[in-house]
Amino acid sequence: MENKRGQWGSNLGFLMAAIGSAVGLGNLWGFPYKMGANGGFAFLLIYLMLVAFCGIIIMSIEMSLGRKTGKSPVLAFAQIGKQYKFIGWMGVLSAFVILSFYSTIGGYVIKYMVDFILNIFGNNSFKGVGGAEYFASVFSNPVTSITYHILFMVITIGIVMGGVNKGIENFNKIAMPSLLVMLLVVIVRSVTLPGSVDGIKFMFSFSGAEFNFFKAVRAAGGQMLFSLSLGMGCLITYGSYLSKKENIVKNAFIIPIADTVFALMAGFAILPAVFAKGLDPASGPSLLFQTLHEVFNSMGYIGLILGFIFYMLALFAALTSSVSLLEVACAHFIDTRLEMGKSGNRRMVTAIVGTAVIIFGIPVALDALGSSGMYQPLGLCWLDFYDFLSEGIMMPLAAVFMSLLMGWKIGLGYMENEITLEGNKFIGKSFFAICIKYITPLLMSFVLISLALSFFNR
Ligand code: TRP
Repeated sequence: MENKRGQWGSNLGFLMAAIGSAVGLGNLWGFPYKMGANGGFAFLLIYLMLVAFCGIIIMSIEMSLGRKTGKSPVLAFAQIGKQYKFIGWMGVLSAFVILSFYSTIGGYVIKYMVDFILNIFGNNSFKGVGGAEYFASVFSNPVTSITYHILFMVITIGIVMGGVNKGIENFNKIAMPSLLVMLLVVIVRSVTLPGSVDGIKFMFSFSGAEFNFFKAVRAAGGQMLFSLSLGMGCLITYGSYLSKKENIVKNAFIIPIADTVFALMAGFAILPAVFAKGLDPASGPSLLFQTLHEVFNSMGYIGLILGFIFYMLALFAALTSSVSLLEVACAHFIDTRLEMGKSGNRRMVTAIVGTAVIIFGIPVALDALGSSGMYQPLGLCWLDFYDFLSEGIMMPLAAVFMSLLMGWKIGLGYMENEITLEGNKFIGKSFFAICIKYITPLLMSFVLISLALSFFNR
């Protein structure tokens, strides 16, 4: 019998959901470009080092905290001490803020997918229009932006309302394998285009003249936190639905490996095609919606079909992530209600929180990526402002606090008790002991400071 909070049907279901949360738009628009622009293979090594010294550690802290307390972030930290509740709150707030901008982009993905279908069936809206021009016509149209932002949220809300097992897990079990197949199709076409090697060279080549070690660590650190969905209690929440017999440390290895493999595959799907068409790569929305649209559009009819497959893949990646973001925010209110002896009422909570995200996301949808002339908080466009609050401040800060708290205050024994339940081994315990106290907080503090500052000199 599923308890009131919900539980994963199996460890595979949990892994699909956690990998689904990790693999998202960040893998598509962030990783390949950042790797190419920050030393190629050197960046990959730095990224993997950060995953080993910070990612796996923070992920294990979050999962053991979640499973031990059986609670969402705020209540989980409250069990350790009232004064630590704020770390959980930063998480809930980050989830809310990230989803508020993620959903505008997710909306553009749906819009492009729909437009590719229409063009496959003979509507010629792409004819004679450049990628930049087409994208501008989408994002500077407030009705389009808001409609698709709402549509994206409605789908996300629908899945989360279904519950942990029937909604989130089942959706991920279909979406993740499909995503993999679609990605493989796009890779095969991309790497077989004439001139595609230049894209692979861009991704892996190291140019000493342009390489800046600190910039690479900062880029890799931010990317790692965002891509692994760390520092905001996503894995506290997902971990709280995990059965006691599953091996936490093993899962904390599998998730980052799968996420990095997906990120590299995204690079193989995107960059070879971009270079084969003689275009410049970029990162962020302009890569996804301008450059890639141009790539697909120049391939004739088959390009329309590939484009459709690509945006559907991006939509699945975005939805499996947005679902995890909404779940963190909702789980908090569901748990709070249960704590007060009321029913969890997932449907109502999800509807209310989801609507709040829709409203909070409206400035991003209206801002047309900063070209609207609207008021700009701190001189940043709304998307960057929300991103700054979450990825730039709250997530790295929470990551620092989590490792300090676990390393110095609570002690590794707390985690060890949880990890070694039902005969599981705590693999790499002495490595964890050193990282959690010294290496992880130091590296994350560096990432925090340099990342926060970087928003203001882009
Ligand atoms: N990891 C997702 C991506 O790469 C986004 C995401 C989902 C996320 N949940 C998160 C980012 C929690 C930060 C925190 O697109």
